[in-house]
Amino acid sequence: MLKLGKFFHFKRSNLLYLVISLAILLWCVSVGWGFTQALAAKPAPILAQSQSLPPLGPNRSTVEAGKELYVATCSGCHIAIPAEVLPTETWQELLENPQKHYGTSVPNMIRLSQVLMWDYLKTNSRPILLKDAPIPYYIEQSQYFKILHPRVEFTEPITPKNCVVCHPGVKDFDYRSLTSEWEDAP
Ligand code: HEC
Ligand code: HEC
Repeated sequence: MLKLGKFFHFKRSNLLYLVISLAILLWCVSVGWGFTQALAAKPAPILAQSQSLPPLGPNRSTVEAGKELYVATCSGCHIAIPAEVLPTETWQELLENPQKHYGTSVPNMIRLSQVLMWDYLKTNSRPILLKDAPIPYYIEQSQYFKILHPRVEFTEPITPKNCVVCHPGVKDFDYRSLTSEWEDAP
């Protein structure tokens, strides 16, 4: 005679296996469902991601290389001056005339390095604001320097030597960081 009672009489360990198998099955189904959902929801997330990526322009890597070369070439006698504080026209004049540099000359200016530095300077500066205004050769004369310092009233002369008073990261070409008194000021 068939002993059904025995057949249905699970041992404890068997019951455990059953529970585990069910859990695994449930997990597989939910993962599968997740995939289907992800696929159904497709282009939106990918598009959104690509929009936040930097553009694939021709000069992303050359701008980086140009910046490094700029800092190396232009920090020999004074600190490397960030491109934003002077108009594009100033940088062009300075790059094209390294032999006539404020009474001295900038060494190591070969064509290739000029091109690379120009990539960085052009990308990170803007043209002179007012048409026909003279090209500023000193930061002190630059509109952009003033625009970048809305909170600051300068009492000391504006020279490359003084930037470090408020910008402690000047040596690392970091003009974002400020001394705590400016960081905390309203
Ligand atoms: C051989 C030394 C030397 C090197 C290298 C050098 N400069 Fe100069 N730079 C000077 C001198 C000297 C001055 C004038 C400082 C003054 O008149 O107070 C000056 C001034 C400047 C100023 C005006 C700063 C101000 O006072 O407002 C800018 C801008 C400038 N240099 C850009 C550059 C750039 C860009 C490079 C790299 C391509 C460079 N310099 C490399 C010597 C150098
Ligand atoms: C008296 C303090 C002080 C001095 C000196 C100073 N700065 Fe600044 N700088 C600031 C403050 C503060 C800001 C933030 C803007 C503001 O609050 O006005 C700033 C902002 C900047 C920025 C914009 C940074 C960004 O967020 O992208 C640049 C670039 C910069 N300064 C360059 C210079 C250079 C170059 C010199 C030297 C010729 C200089 N600064 C001298 C206080 C100073």
